[in-house]
Amino acid sequence: MRKKIVAGNWKMNKTFLEAEELVAQVAEALEKRKLDNKAVVLCPPFPYLELTTDIAKESKFQVGAQNVYPEDNGAYTGEVSPPMLESMEVEYCIIGHSERRKYFAENHDFLARKLDALLKHNIIPIFCCGEVLSERKAKKHFKVVETQLNESLFHLKKDEVSNVVIAYEPVWAIGTGVNATAEEAQEMHAFIRGLVAKKYSKKLSEEISILYGGSCNAKNAKELFSNPDVDGGLIGGASLKSEDFLAIVDAL
Ligand code: 13P
Repeated sequence: MRKKIVAGNWKMNKTFLEAEELVAQVAEALEKRKLDNKAVVLCPPFPYLELTTDIAKESKFQVGAQNVYPEDNGAYTGEVSPPMLESMEVEYCIIGHSERRKYFAENHDFLARKLDALLKHNIIPIFCCGEVLSERKAKKHFKVVETQLNESLFHLKKDEVSNVVIAYEPVWAIGTGVNATAEEAQEMHAFIRGLVAKKYSKKLSEEISILYGGSCNAKNAKELFSNPDVDGGLIGGASLKSEDFLAIVDAL
């Protein structure tokens, strides 16, 4: 079912004590809120997953990882597998983030493998896509996003893709303070939903959640989320302070 989601991607931030404090603050604040069909997801760095899933058991948020390796186990020093995440009750995992595409050279095929591996272990992938500034300037942004979906996502079967969350994150908006306008976000989200409809079915396209990410904050969240095809946000910088993150949750 199509869900409204606000997910916080902490990236490589926070010490253990800071992480503990932030999770506790979010948990306490959510106690007083009615979330109905909204999901709030915290995606801390790997070392803080256990503390986060422990608190999540008694709270209203869910937990996501920021990365995964697409094998169940083996000699992959430094990596974390889907069964490990599943065994810790991690429910979501971000993949395809532009930072991993850029700094870790993750390509379409590798992301397709990650998607398959996560779905096999009942973890909901948050699949990120989005263009860089030069691609938008050259008016290639639709083509770029279409290729990312075609090459990594659209090999999935209908009943698999219905368990995926898509996040549109224009790279030029990430960490820059320059968000996509509500119109730009809506236009791309409608385009993505249209691609899902064409590949699978209109019904399925209406059931899939598409999040916006890129300088989404307490001030602009309401306007971005008011668009019919924007089902919430994947939040970076503004997820690191509980007041800001909760204001975004309230804007949903
Ligand atoms: P910012 O919200 O810091 O722009 O980051 C967005 C992002 O990359 C979330 O995954």
